[in-house]
Amino acid sequence: MAGGGEVVDLGELAPKHVRAIAPYVPGKPIGETARELGLDPASILKMASNENPLGASPRALAAIRDALGDLAYYPDGSGHDLKAALQRKFGVAPERIVLGNGSNDVLELAGRAFLTPADSAVYSRHAFLVYPLVVQAIGARHIEVPARDYGSDLDAMARAIRPDTKLVFLANPNNPTGTFNAWDCVAAFLERVAPRVLVVIDEAYGEYLDAASRSPTLGWLDRHPNLVVTRTLSKAYGLAGLRIGYAAAHRDVADLMNRVRQPFNVNHLAMVAAAAALDDEEFLEKSRAVNAAGLEQLAAGLRRLRLEFIPSRGNFVSLRVDDAPRVYRALLERGIIVRPIAGYGLPEHLRVTVGLPEHNARFLEALAAVTGGG
Ligand SMILES: Cc1ncc(COP(=O)(O)O)c(C=O)c1O
Repeated sequence: MAGGGEVVDLGELAPKHVRAIAPYVPGKPIGETARELGLDPASILKMASNENPLGASPRALAAIRDALGDLAYYPDGSGHDLKAALQRKFGVAPERIVLGNGSNDVLELAGRAFLTPADSAVYSRHAFLVYPLVVQAIGARHIEVPARDYGSDLDAMARAIRPDTKLVFLANPNNPTGTFNAWDCVAAFLERVAPRVLVVIDEAYGEYLDAASRSPTLGWLDRHPNLVVTRTLSKAYGLAGLRIGYAAAHRDVADLMNRVRQPFNVNHLAMVAAAAALDDEEFLEKSRAVNAAGLEQLAAGLRRLRLEFIPSRGNFVSLRVDDAPRVYRALLERGIIVRPIAGYGLPEHLRVTVGLPEHNARFLEALAAVTGGG
């Protein structure tokens, strides 16, 4: 027998910090829900993962069809064409861009490039769960800062930074709370942070902000070489299944992040689709309009049901119910998948993604039935 029959506890082979990782629990897939509950998959409404109810940008779909003949080739590992499209749209030079297999990937690259087990990272309570995951996978130290009204308390976060802090994560708007820190407060926060500390501003939901609140952060990169802005095409552009996101940063920061990146981390169809989607202003505007109307529809419905919710600037709302596991289950039995967020420190809340008007109406009706309201 290989190894002379020695019995090894495979779990012990991994370092302690890896064994301590609490796996990320994604939104329940439609297929799994259908199998478990004996439902027709076509009847199931998934409002659990902040996906775009309009589907993908039509321009992206056309670009994918045109690119199918290229699939035998490896993708362009430098991402030249997509970086050029990002430069055209946002004026960011290609050497400042890091492409990722979703923005989760670039968040991890930031951790891998800069954190060691001797360092700490700061983030808010109720912040996006990938931040603690990234920190934990490296064995670095966590500094979770208490939230204020469910949102990021920037004063407290600035005060929480220690000499060993290398990274700060800030989602704006945040998921799953939908809370938003005004950009002038974020600018003042950056002024307080030492230049040796990288500040990652995660703008996964930035496209949903109204025109007056749209992010100015790319214009801050020259003044703040320690700033990393991350964005995704998963939400307002409707490309979650393709996995494509990016970071913009100082060229030296981007260079380091690119060094720890797998050479072909982003697939060809994702890059082609993303470049086309960036040009699809019509789809983006429609996504924004559907979302704004849906947020109002959900807010009005929740008020009617006298259910407390956190006002949201994203494409989702987190609402408070008397017994979240029971309500989640009862909605599931009615074919509606929402997201329990106990893992975010919100055991009494459920998060629902904004859908089309008929989706929101079906959700509100089912919610009324299962909470005894309406
Ligand atoms: C705040 C935030 N950041 C980043 C992401 C990652 O998105 P993706 O990896 O699909 O780009 C999400 C997805 O839900 C998110 O909510």
